[in-house]
Amino acid sequence: MLETTHFTDIDDISASELDRVLTRAADIKSGDDETRLTRATLAMLFEKPSTRTRVSFETGMTQLGGHALFLGPEDIQLGHGEPLSDTARVLGRYGDAIMVRLFDHADLLEIAEHSNAPVINGLTDDAHPCQTLADLLTIREHVGDFDEVQAAWVGDGNNVGQSFVLGCAMAGIDLTVATPPEYAMDDEVIARAAELGQAPTVTTDPEEAIDGADVIYTDVWISMGQESERHQKLQAFEGFQLNEELLADTDAKVMHCLPAHRGEEITGDVLEGDQSIVWDQAENRLHAQKGLIVELLDE
Ligand code: CP
Ligand code: NVA
Repeated sequence: MLETTHFTDIDDISASELDRVLTRAADIKSGDDETRLTRATLAMLFEKPSTRTRVSFETGMTQLGGHALFLGPEDIQLGHGEPLSDTARVLGRYGDAIMVRLFDHADLLEIAEHSNAPVINGLTDDAHPCQTLADLLTIREHVGDFDEVQAAWVGDGNNVGQSFVLGCAMAGIDLTVATPPEYAMDDEVIARAAELGQAPTVTTDPEEAIDGADVIYTDVWISMGQESERHQKLQAFEGFQLNEELLADTDAKVMHCLPAHRGEEITGDVLEGDQSIVWDQAENRLHAQKGLIVELLDE
């Protein structure tokens, strides 16, 4: 079992626990680990839309012998005035774990404070640690040992990027981050990465970031909830698109957490090209989260 009760960000677990979750995920994926969590229930609360997170958790719970419940805020009393703290206390008494996708990270922490069942972050404005688990599993499969991997993050310093920075620091992956100056990762995240192992190299030049990289990772420029910033962000991210010109001299693998906006942060040719590993990455959400759930819940 993991030391932590909750999984609010990737560094709630230690580096050795991260390795254990990834190994368990790989064993579950290969069929070597047949752990079952019979009758376990995962309550899933979504304030934002989702394809991968919703379906991979729901499918994963079914495959483990348990059950997942989809709860939109409008479906439950939360959307009609019941406080988060009361919702958390009640869900935590019914469910074996609660997975939440929310806007405000502070709301996630409030749920964790009041729930006596483990709370798993399925994305907030600040973090997406379940994505990081899948990303690291995919890198290990496609590239190899983390201490020999050079990775580049190109694009927005957003939730997916921030958890990836922390995960790379914990795993010992050599990471360079290229963002426009006004959309950099939070200083606090860079400082946490330094404490965990190694802070990424930070630049505003995508070409510098991808030089020598084995994997190049991007995400949407306009995250859910940022629609009003669209015009301003599109201007700021000029030159940050993963396209054939930027990738002309590299055979690095290309990663994207999806959903992708073809023609914005990545071209259709690159997303569908030989270097892309995005579909394996998406599939690994399922395996990685099963590894996490059994490590959180299994005795
Ligand atoms: N990558 C990811 O979390 O996708 P969804 O928004 O579809 O869940
Ligand atoms: N950064 C994106 C990730 C979606 C999975 C968003 O928050 O919308």
